[in-house]
Order: sequence, then C-alpha cells, then structure tokens
Amino acid sequence: MEIQQLSASGEQNRRPLTEIKGIILAGGQGSRLEPLTEVTNKHLLPVGREPMIWHPVKQLVSAGVRDILVVTSTNHMGDVVNSLGSGRRMGCEFTYRVQEQPQGIADALSLAETFASGKKIVVLLGDNIFEYSIRPHLESFLQQEKGARILLKEVGDPERFAVAALDEQRILEIEEKPANPKTNYAVVGCYMYDEQVFDIIRTLQPSGRGEYEITSVNDVYRQRQQLEFSFVRGRWADAGTFESLNEANQMLLSVRNQILTE
Ligand code: DAU
Repeated sequence: MEIQQLSASGEQNRRPLTEIKGIILAGGQGSRLEPLTEVTNKHLLPVGREPMIWHPVKQLVSAGVRDILVVTSTNHMGDVVNSLGSGRRMGCEFTYRVQEQPQGIADALSLAETFASGKKIVVLLGDNIFEYSIRPHLESFLQQEKGARILLKEVGDPERFAVAALDEQRILEIEEKPANPKTNYAVVGCYMYDEQVFDIIRTLQPSGRGEYEITSVNDVYRQRQQLEFSFVRGRWADAGTFESLNEANQMLLSVRNQILTE
C-alpha cells in the first residue's frame, strides 16, 4: 500500500513539520485485552481495516511529521517491524526502541531522548484513535515558546483516564484515574513537549501501581505554568478495553481508516 492511500486525503501538500519529531508508544502488556493479546501485541489488533498502530503513524505522517520513533516491547518488536517496515511506503522514517519492562508511559518515553536530540516532540499512545487530524494542535504547539501541550476530551467515564480540572485559561489540577473525578475532561494520549521533558522524567518516582506516570510529567509542566491545552475535535477512543476497542473499530470503519481534516 502506498503513501497516497495511507495519508489523509488533501494533506499531502501541507508543509512538512521538520521542527518536531514523532514518538509512538506501543509497549505495555495489553492485559485488559487478553486472550486477544496472548500471542500478539495490542497495537497489531485490527481497528477498522488496518492494524491499530497504523493509525498513529497516519496521524503523524498526514500532519507532516516524518521522523518517527516507535517504542514497543521485546516480545513483539519483530511483528511490529514486519507490519511497519522502514517507513518508506508510509512516507516517513522509523527508528525503533525496545522497552524491556512495562514500567509506564513516562519510562517508555525516556527511551526517546537521543532520538529527540533537543527538538520538540509529539507523543502518541499507540492505542489512541482520533477521528480528526492532530495537525492544528501541532501548529498551536509550535507557536508556544516553550513548555508542553495536552489534549482534552469530554467523556462519560472519566475515572478511566487522567482527568483535568481547569478554568478558562489554565489547567488547575490533573489526577490519574481518580475514583471521584472533579470534571469530565479526560487527558487523551497525545502529548507535546519541549526538551525539558527528559530531565523531568529523571526526577520521577514510580506511582502506587509501580509505573512512571505521564500524568506526573504533565503535572511538573503545570507547576511551572508551562502547560497549555486544547480540545479534541470529533470522536476519540482509547482502544485498550473490549468496549473501547469496539468503539474504535466502528469509528475507523465509518471513515474507512481515513483521518478527517474538514
Ligand atoms: O488513553 C489515555 C490515557 O492513557 C490517559 O488518560 C492516562 O493518563 C494514561 O495513563 C493512559 O492510561 P491507560 O491506562 O489507558 O494506559 P495503558 O497502560 O493502557 O497504556 C497506554 C499506551 O501506552 C499503550 O497502548 C502502550 C503505551 N505504554 C504503556 C505502558 C504502561 C508503553 O509503551 N509502555 C508502558 O509501560
């Protein structure tokens, strides 16, 4: 399959965003999807007509990001490389890193430091499916002098996610999977960071569930008053449970795995 089919229609002529590098996190165990994940990686399960991990690749490529790092687990690196290849047919260039233990999203991201080489980065969780292009958010982030940008989506089940409390301009608080969420604003799996992120990760301690949490990273940016946010347009799903995998599947079938821009 060639790039024309892999990218969102009409976006081929957009300016490539060479000032930002892309990172797709596809490690972890996928234990909530067993037995589907007993012999394969969650991110290779079908969503619509394609393997799940093709979606974040298409999001990045169609947004103009060409230099992409994929982090996955030891067990399934071979299968992920078999699916994605060098990136040539998808119009990008892949670098691969192995996360040996599923020690959290921030731990997986720490493997990207040399790849990022001081540039701004956009991080996509490999199981997050967005109906519309993330390009407008990248453009807003590139206008920021420094700091980070997160994306929010109003949901009916916020306790499954990181949840943000905010006023009109600022994020006031972020809690990871709170039992009693203060709002319905989920922090979705698309994060934009400047070069401070790797020093921040080095300061983290594992959370109660033994993971290096991305929410702790975002909270440091918030404390530094360097955390901006925008809202996700259209539908969004985190395909990490049977119900949400089904939702993601329906979403991508309805748009034939294309990424909407208009
Ligand atoms: O989907 C959005 C949510 O994703 C956020 O609201 C949460 O703040 C964030 O913690 C995350 O929550 P999940 O419980 O859904 O995370 P999960 O463990 O399913 O991991 C999401 C992706 O991150 C997974 O598809 C692959 C990657 N990952 C995860 C872990 C724990 C790694 O690459 N390595 C890891 O060690």
